[in-house]
Amino acid sequence: MNPSRRIMVLGAGDLGRRVFHELAHTTRERHVQLVGRDEEVALRAANLTRFSALQRGFTPTVGHACTDLTDVARTAERIAAFAPDIVFLAASYQSWWVISTLEAAAFQRVYAANYGPWLPMHLVPVMKAMEAVRLSGTEALIVNAAYPDAVHPALAAVGLSPDIGIGNVANNVPGITAAAADELGRSTADVQVRLVAHHYVSHRLSRHGDSGPAAMGLGIRLDGRDVTAELDTAALLRRLPAQYRRTGGLAGQTMTAASALSVLEPLADGRDAVVHAPGVDGALGGCPVAIESGKFRVLLPDGMTDEQAHAINVSGQAQDGIREIRADGTVLFEPASMAVMTEELGYDCPEMRLSEAEDRAREIAERFAEYRTRTTT
Ligand SMILES: NC(=O)c1ccc[n+]([C@@H]2O[C@H](COP(=O)([O-])OP(=O)(O)OC[C@H]3O[C@@H](n4cnc5c(N)ncnc54)[C@H](OP(=O)(O)O)[C@@H]3O)[C@@H](O)[C@H]2O)c1
Repeated sequence: MNPSRRIMVLGAGDLGRRVFHELAHTTRERHVQLVGRDEEVALRAANLTRFSALQRGFTPTVGHACTDLTDVARTAERIAAFAPDIVFLAASYQSWWVISTLEAAAFQRVYAANYGPWLPMHLVPVMKAMEAVRLSGTEALIVNAAYPDAVHPALAAVGLSPDIGIGNVANNVPGITAAAADELGRSTADVQVRLVAHHYVSHRLSRHGDSGPAAMGLGIRLDGRDVTAELDTAALLRRLPAQYRRTGGLAGQTMTAASALSVLEPLADGRDAVVHAPGVDGALGGCPVAIESGKFRVLLPDGMTDEQAHAINVSGQAQDGIREIRADGTVLFEPASMAVMTEELGYDCPEMRLSEAEDRAREIAERFAEYRTRTTT
């Protein structure tokens, strides 16, 4: 396989800019383009990346472009003009951290809804981007950051799923690897972790050190031998928010960017790798995956079947606030999660067809803006 070298980052927010920046700091020949909706933001970010790469002796080709994802034809033109090998989607109408900018008490109340009810804020920009991908005729690999655990299975129903997601299940794997290696008295290089977990569980692990009411699957190998049964894995996970705690919030998106690069760089460089990712080939939830010649092969913990892995991810999905994603892409939300949204924002959406997602995203944005005003003292 020829190494892919042209990478388009679509979405010039915090995560998109971080990943774009890192992709340019390399001795490999790469052409990276940052695409935002604001010319000034995209130009400045691209120049910052270009100049800091030059400062360190790297000479990547760096550029920028503009589009608004709601303009599918324009986005398709941008994609066709750049002819990327890989597109990294990092756009969202409302990133996960935005609710944390509410006043503390309001944040705590809204946080109780979990992530699922906010799905339209991630699904719609990805859907628009994928419509543009199809219209452009590109055969680029599409890698997405925005809630792939649920966005991909919903969009898979209409043939619009990105190829693979990043983050979530991946974000705790280095911490678990470090904790296991320390417990075993060995180098992290000798330890391989295989984790099956939905977004809900990955979010919980770093904060509570367990998977709560959801299931998860964890396998640990030492020198290629399964040693899971020899370890107290529950005690190990409890150390994640204790001695293995890490910086969170926006600054903590360094971890997410690293998870994104763990997928993007092997694809860009034509290398095989074993990584963790959500939404692999449109699947629900997250799991370990082998990247082999640009294709993906799910690698489960020893002894786990595909059906067991799927059931684990479905249990996490329910805790995240999504009861079911139907074969036609219709999403049914968990009443308990939605009740929080109704109580706080006045938003009620028991069921959403894909064709309704745009209106739902608009409604959430309006209600959230009103809520912020109402709860700000
Ligand atoms: N998988 C993971 O582990 C993980 C971890 C962290 C974040 N994420 C997800 O990654 C995504 C990005 O997160 P972030 O923190 O970087 O968010 P962010 O800073 O808010 O960036 C989102 C970007 O999307 C852009 N955007 C919104 N609507 C657009 C449109 N119509 N056309 C073009 N661009 C548009 C925004 O543009 P403007 O700047 O012009 O508003 C913004 O630059 C979110 O879905 C977030 O939840 C995933």
